[in-house]
Amino acid sequence: MFNLGIIGFGGMANHHYDALKSYDRLKIAGVYDVDPKRGQLAEEKGLKSYPSKEALLADDTIDIVLVAATNEVHKDLSIEAMRAGKHVICEKPVTLSSAELEEVIAASEQYGRIFTVDQNRRTNKDFVLMRRNVEQGLLGDVYVIESRVEGSRGMPKGWRTMKDYGGGMMLDWGVHLIDQIMYMTNEKVVNVFCKMYSVEYSEVDDNFRLTMTFGSGLTAHIEVSTNNYITHPRWYVLGKQGTLQIDGWECDGKIVRCVDKENVWVDEIIYTKAGPTKTMAPRNKNSTEEITLSEPTDVVDNLTVVYDGFLDAIEGKAALKITPQQALRVMKVMEAAFESHQTASAVQTSI
Ligand SMILES: NC(=O)c1ccc[n+]([C@@H]2O[C@H](COP(=O)([O-])OP(=O)(O)OC[C@H]3O[C@@H](n4cnc5c(N)ncnc54)[C@H](O)[C@@H]3O)[C@@H](O)[C@H]2O)c1
Repeated sequence: MFNLGIIGFGGMANHHYDALKSYDRLKIAGVYDVDPKRGQLAEEKGLKSYPSKEALLADDTIDIVLVAATNEVHKDLSIEAMRAGKHVICEKPVTLSSAELEEVIAASEQYGRIFTVDQNRRTNKDFVLMRRNVEQGLLGDVYVIESRVEGSRGMPKGWRTMKDYGGGMMLDWGVHLIDQIMYMTNEKVVNVFCKMYSVEYSEVDDNFRLTMTFGSGLTAHIEVSTNNYITHPRWYVLGKQGTLQIDGWECDGKIVRCVDKENVWVDEIIYTKAGPTKTMAPRNKNSTEEITLSEPTDVVDNLTVVYDGFLDAIEGKAALKITPQQALRVMKVMEAAFESHQTASAVQTSI
């Protein structure tokens, strides 16, 4: 049984608290938050509230620290915790830059502590469903993956709208969606193009469209939007043999795939509502098959999966699942995305 200390007891830390309630490998020893009201809330939940970060880090019974404060303090808090002998799990985005993360990695090596990042969306069911179907080869060679999360309520007010706190949608949601794609392939990212928008908040991106190209030519198109009143599907994937669509987090979707390549063309021109066309005319229904997709029932999508991978690594039972090196690649793609937006041009990369 490990003891966990939490630094930063806001919304996400409370999600960890809920997820860990019935988890038998770890107990929450207490929390520290700069805002005394959050400390009070922790006490109301039966948790110890430490008067200072130093007091929490000085507690020898604590083996692990969860850094769940705002983004701009992740680097310093992670390093201080490891210096105090704690293993660290840090919320995403792990840091504000790759240079900061390299400092954290150096500290992890110097103090011999395990450092991981809460990239918890690797177990989201919509992602697992898409990935499984791609990997089973049902679509043939995949050349485009489109991944979108879209809302129309703007961004939550507060630190997420401020640059100094690491606000903006690239660092908030982009980090998850890029991580999901990079978790699927070991190929290098060779080109990044991104356009960001500040629809409501001028300091940060509240919407963006990113295209990443991998060495093989595979392209991932990622969009995060907070101003879309009509949404696209969550996933849209093109393979040489078929197309996959998953509508949303509920996982409703389908694959339509080619079963007959021969009987596709007819000699005559075809008249559609928009005039004559052969290329874009509807195809012969018998030449495709449709497979209905639905929520996978065997996938556990819970923070405890992230903790299991982390604790197994601390106990030496398995290699760390979410490594800082993986997070570093994601961070470098995000940096290339910011550069691409600022220079209004594609950035050649080798990430
Ligand atoms: N993995 C996910 O799916 C996910 C979801 C939401 C948020 N997050 C991440 O979790 C972190 C927290 O986000 P949130 O939504 O809980 O924000 P929040 O504003 O609700 O909570 C942040 C808390 O950190 C405290 N804090 C700030 N600086 C501190 C410091 N130096 N020491 C101690 N406490 C400090 C604040 O007082 C606040 O209570 C962010 O990094 C965010 O990106 C991750």
